[in-house]
Amino acid sequence: MTKELRKIVIPEFIFGFNSRKLIGSYAKNLGAEKVLIVTDSGIISSGWVQEIIESLEASDIKYHVFSSIFPNPRDIDVMVGTDIFLEQECNFIVAVGGGSPMDCAKGIAIVATNGGHIVDYEGVDSVPYPGPPLVCIPSTSGTSADVSQFAIILNTMRLVKIAIISKKVVPDLALIDPELLTTMDDYLTACTGMDALTHAIEAYVSNASSSFTDLHALEAIRLISKNLLPLYRDRHDEEALNNMMLASLHAGIAFSNASLGGVHAMAHSLGGLFDLPHGECNSILLEHVIDHNFEFAKERYMTIAEALGVQNPCKETLIEAISGMRHTLGIKAKIDLGIKSDEIQKLAEFSLQDPCMVTNPTVMSKEDVIKVFERVLCDESKK
Ligand SMILES: [Fe+2]
Repeated sequence: MTKELRKIVIPEFIFGFNSRKLIGSYAKNLGAEKVLIVTDSGIISSGWVQEIIESLEASDIKYHVFSSIFPNPRDIDVMVGTDIFLEQECNFIVAVGGGSPMDCAKGIAIVATNGGHIVDYEGVDSVPYPGPPLVCIPSTSGTSADVSQFAIILNTMRLVKIAIISKKVVPDLALIDPELLTTMDDYLTACTGMDALTHAIEAYVSNASSSFTDLHALEAIRLISKNLLPLYRDRHDEEALNNMMLASLHAGIAFSNASLGGVHAMAHSLGGLFDLPHGECNSILLEHVIDHNFEFAKERYMTIAEALGVQNPCKETLIEAISGMRHTLGIKAKIDLGIKSDEIQKLAEFSLQDPCMVTNPTVMSKEDVIKVFERVLCDESKK
């Protein structure tokens, strides 16, 4: 029996259909006077923001909407959002959307209270003071920023995504409503679902895993194996909506407390340098990092294969199952950007500096990382 100490951080959350409609009363109870709603144009067109506004108005709470956010939220977006938060004299933040609005909202909360520039807070436990109250309402079943200690922001000077990992970025409340998943398109459903699967797998094989995070990681893998394809095919399948949102929640609790690994370290570099969707990068890299790691965490990967329902579990059948899932979801195996070898060197250097690499179950050398990037970046990369 292990006697190791473990710290687990999970925010208060309300899970279930219609939980979004509780925002007005919860914001009131948490002391909101004027709310900065952080979102993006897609979420506004889907109608979810209007519902949030109506709920806030019903509780006599003022608001301002900030939606100038790019996918892969940039440090500049955080700094502009912070200026607006201060100018508008807001005292509360509500993030509605996928990872981009939620991570940007976390960044705004950090800078609004601590000052300076968002890139100053890169790394683990670098945020001194907690920000204003933050409520997250996720619209995808993948990122889990609504329950995690992570905020990922693009450093536009270095063109790399930085990870801010701190208890101070855990929201005060998450309203996790499966109905918001109905407005995802096919590719977003695919990429965010594979992101959640990657969270669960990397948390389970992480060298900071614990029996508590294992429980959540394995349940996430079981739920994703049974519900991702049904949700991809029908965004009105209530059971699939509920179970994928639940899977994302379990995966988020697991990775927020066990951290991640080589796939995320490499995906942050790749997505940062070439502005690619996060879930797409993970999906493409996952099978190759498993190929590298398998022998160093064999028993754990065998358990993952069983949770995925793989027949005759072994390295080959596990990789086949994951690549089969990726293919069925319409995510390609490679990225053809004509990337040059000096750019691969840069990608590898950034990956090795990413905090997620520290918890990969085995050390990845620069050569190991380059080998994986060369496999997924097509033949142009070798020119
Ligand atoms: Fe992720």
